[in-house]
Amino acid sequence: MHNLKELFVFITRIVAPSVKRFLGTGTLYSITMKVQVVPDEAMKYQIIFVTGNRHKVVEAAAICAPRGIAIVQNNCGYPELQDDDVARVAAYGAEYMANRLNCALIVEDTGLYIDVLNGFPGPYAAYIYDTIGNTGILALMRDIRGSDDRRATFRSIVGYCEPDMAPITFEGTVTGRIAYEERGEGGFGYDPIFEIDGVTFASMNDDAKNEVSHRAKSFEKFAEWFLKRENP
Ligand code: IMP
Repeated sequence: MHNLKELFVFITRIVAPSVKRFLGTGTLYSITMKVQVVPDEAMKYQIIFVTGNRHKVVEAAAICAPRGIAIVQNNCGYPELQDDDVARVAAYGAEYMANRLNCALIVEDTGLYIDVLNGFPGPYAAYIYDTIGNTGILALMRDIRGSDDRRATFRSIVGYCEPDMAPITFEGTVTGRIAYEERGEGGFGYDPIFEIDGVTFASMNDDAKNEVSHRAKSFEKFAEWFLKRENP
């Protein structure tokens, strides 16, 4: 083994698949990819956030950490229900994972609803992003003649669940506009084409996005509920 790259390739191609065969996929990922993002002893509470998206973790932590709740990322993945309501997707994911990992946790699911496209892509935002992406969305909107309606809404749902409990959901929305072209270097997903007052999410820093975003609102609601429950 000559360098780190070779070692990495050896682990991912040879070791990981064998361990995965031995333990089962979910087990391997929950062991290897659990990351503590806010390692602060002053933090009074912690909650596991099951997501593979680091951007979501950073945004959620910026809301929860000042309230004393550390976000612990677990990247083990979960089956996403195909449903036209993101709240049901989040509720299902939270319940499935809480029973599988046998602990309290949250998941979060986001939909993007573009008015002139009758709410498309809505709950299928991830699939559409992966297939046609931002350029595809912009092209679709260019093809709509006779309307300059660029309004769009992000809907974020945090799903919380404990083993053998019915899931609870917390919703945050933000309405803005779809830009005419991609702008900005930051963020992820649809951030380069979603703008508020002419500024895309991708052009904002994390703090500015968290001032207005759908995710900030859903996590604020979750944090408020969680703290009330911990301190009745
Ligand atoms: P999901 O919640 O990860 O399923 O997100 C659905 C799709 O929306 C994915 O393609 C994400 O990249 C995208 N997405 C989720 N949240 C945001 C956001 O805050 N800004 C931009 N795109 C997002």
